[in-house]
Amino acid sequence: MKCVDDFRLVLGGKEYVPIVIGGMGVDISTAKLALEAARLGGIGHISDAMYMDVSDRYFNTDYTETKATQYKKYIPLHDKTDVLFDLAMVAEATKRQVADVMERKRGDGLIFINCMEKLTMNAARDTLRTRLTSAMDAGIDGITLAAGLHQNTLRLIEDHSRFRDVKIGIIVSSHRALQIFLRRNAKLKRLPDYVVVEGPLAGGHLGFGLDWANYDLRTIVREVNAYQEKEGLSIPVIAGGGIFTGADAVSFLEDGASAVQVATRFAVTRESGLPDHVKQEYFKASEDDIEVNMASPTGYPMRMLKNSPALSVGLRPNCEAFGYMLDKGTCPYLEEYYKAVDAGADTSFMVKTQKTCLCTHMRNHYVWTCGHYAYRLKDTTHKLADGSYLLPSAEHVFKDYQFSKDGKIALPELPVPPYIVK
Ligand SMILES: Cc1cc2nc3c(=O)[nH]c(=O)nc-3n(C[C@H](O)[C@H](O)[C@H](O)COP(=O)(O)O)c2cc1C
Repeated sequence: MKCVDDFRLVLGGKEYVPIVIGGMGVDISTAKLALEAARLGGIGHISDAMYMDVSDRYFNTDYTETKATQYKKYIPLHDKTDVLFDLAMVAEATKRQVADVMERKRGDGLIFINCMEKLTMNAARDTLRTRLTSAMDAGIDGITLAAGLHQNTLRLIEDHSRFRDVKIGIIVSSHRALQIFLRRNAKLKRLPDYVVVEGPLAGGHLGFGLDWANYDLRTIVREVNAYQEKEGLSIPVIAGGGIFTGADAVSFLEDGASAVQVATRFAVTRESGLPDHVKQEYFKASEDDIEVNMASPTGYPMRMLKNSPALSVGLRPNCEAFGYMLDKGTCPYLEEYYKAVDAGADTSFMVKTQKTCLCTHMRNHYVWTCGHYAYRLKDTTHKLADGSYLLPSAEHVFKDYQFSKDGKIALPELPVPPYIVK
């Protein structure tokens, strides 16, 4: 019986442990987590979601406050068209954070950045171009294009000196999405270096409708590889979504994937950016506590714990400070909010709508998004005497994926006695 360590992902002629920790915004896949993956010879992602705000937390900057002050007069106005990010600040924040993580990188692995097209930031092209070029300027190893078809994204960066040297990958959920991406970019003569095929059991936003249960990752991976064979292509495929054990990973590696992308098990590690009490909610979850809903204003379904505060707490949108979801001055949450207000809803009770205010709630860790198998997390660690679960280290989870066999999951070591295990 094989383990993941018997395989290698080859990118640009170099070999890597075929484990990729997926991007998890907002700052759940922290620099610390990505650095561990790289140190252990795999690939870690940071995410550029709400980078200005994340920067304020780590680097003592005040981008969010500055923006909020600048646009204060727009608070009562429905139209936020003029509430724009300062591109110089976006560039500065991105460069600072990427340079910091790249300086701290040790080991033979790589650090990629997850860039979501749906993070429109009220000037979709300009902000995306700025984020991508700044990350390349600051030395990022690779860019994973996420949450969108990215039909025109490569053109935004084709003049950058690193366009052909930085690794570029795209996340797709069907071979058709890959086909569209390749056709749209054929003239650039720059194929992606890898394709992440994300199935319906993943965390975060899903590239499926609410009929997600009719699809399965293995079939899509095979379809993508069959399509590649037909076209004479051999772009490494990274399979993700519901790969919970080393044995799950091996089965995909034997079935034509070059690596796996995993996230949920790392969301509860010590290095993840979720607050510890939220990690405990993930451990406690049962299968019935997880749902796929349409609360995200992106229009994509999202999987989350049903008790995510974002699903019950309505609030006044805060686009002046954040506004990461704005597109041409509005956002589906904003529209619903104002409709409710115009219909006489009492704002002093913070209007509750069908959609959720993703910026504010993600920033406050009130959206507890997770993969389908989050309910199995409790089987990956010890339950302690006080009823809480021991948080594993990222190294432990990484090595469990890398070396485990037979579907077994190694429990983390209890660090200091006396730890009383239930
Ligand atoms: C907490 C969490 C947040 C996520 N956020 C993002 C994100 O910001 N962008 C993205 O492309 N994918 C996101 N994902 C998807 C992961 O990167 C990954 O592809 C997927 O969850 C892998 O499946 P698994 O969680 O079952 O291992 C997120 C997943 C989780 C669990």
